[in-house]
Formats: sequence, C-alpha cells, structure tokens
Amino acid sequence: MEIRAQVTEYVQERLKALRAQNQEAGLYQNASCIRANSMKFLPNFFKKHQLSKIFLCFPDPHFKARKHKARIVSTTLTAEYAYVVRPGGIIYTITDVEDLHNWMVSHFNVYPSFERVGEEEQEADECVNIMRTETEEGKKVTRNNGPKFVALFKRLEDPPW
Ligand SMILES: C[S@@+](CC[C@H](N)C(=O)[O-])C[C@H]1O[C@@H](n2cnc3c(N)ncnc32)[C@H](O)[C@@H]1O
Repeated sequence: MEIRAQVTEYVQERLKALRAQNQEAGLYQNASCIRANSMKFLPNFFKKHQLSKIFLCFPDPHFKARKHKARIVSTTLTAEYAYVVRPGGIIYTITDVEDLHNWMVSHFNVYPSFERVGEEEQEADECVNIMRTETEEGKKVTRNNGPKFVALFKRLEDPPW
C-alpha cells in the first residue's frame, strides 16, 4: 500500500518487468502494489488474522512533535496491526532514526498482543537481512554509512474469553 500515485506506478511497473524476466520460474506472482493510505484503510483490505507478516521499512520519521500523529505506528494503528496479523505472525520494523525506533518499540511493548522478538531469533530471520539491504531506503542508508535500528514484534494468541 503506497500513498503516492507515481511511486505506486513505479512499483507496479517493476513487478511487471520482474514477472516477465522470470516467466519460466513463475516468480513474483504473489506481490502487488496498490495506491492507498494504509493509515486509513488497512482494515478495509485485510480481514482478521489474514496476514503473517507486515514490514514497516524506513517509515517517514515526522520529527516534529506536532507531526507525530502522522507516524505509521501509534496506539490506534498498533490495534489495527494486531487485528490483521495472525497469532504467531510478525511485525518487522527498521529505521535509521533512533527516536522513531524507540517510539515504535515503546508502542508495541505496551500493547498486550505483541511481544518483542529476541535478538537471536531476530538475526536468524532471513527477512531481517533482506530488509536491511534490499529496500531502496536501506540501500541509501548503507551508501551514507547510516545506522539501522531493527525491532520485530510477534503477535501473541488472544487470551481465552
Ligand atoms: C521513506 S519511504 C520508505 C520506502 C520503502 N519502505 C523503503 O524502505 O525503501 C516511505 C514511503 O511511505 C509512503 N507513505 C507514507 N505515508 C503513507 C500512508 N499513509 N500510506 C501509504 N504509504 C505511505 C511514502 O509515500 C513513501 O513512499
């Protein structure tokens, strides 16, 4: 889900090209990009517990306090992530902004449906390395020798009612 039309189009074109280049192997069939405001419409696209993983890669930091409400992690949105991710599923976060990293960790830490994944399990997860090195922002941060802060949160089982 991408909010900017031009970026959405770029990702859609990249996917078409990757599918064409890998036609015989049948790769890239399970990826897509849709123009949407994920902060408003996530529950309109996914049903309860549908997702196994969500990646929040280098989200906009919105440094100023009065812009913090635009951050992609908030008390309200954490509840939405808990709704769409299945128990055992994982939310992946990465940023080069330490303040934003601490903000994301503190929001997921206080939410009872999530538990932070330990460092050993985090580093053994192949998605973590891909997230560090393969996204556009990840590559830019590497070129600038910037830091990368990673945190993973596991969706816990709901308590019995
Ligand atoms: C800093 S870029 C990170 C891009 C990518 N995740 C990466 O790691 O290379 C943030 C992206 O999120 C998009 N974005 C910001 N707010 C959004 C929202 N509410 N819904 C969907 N996309 C959004 C921006 O347009 C931008 O393309």
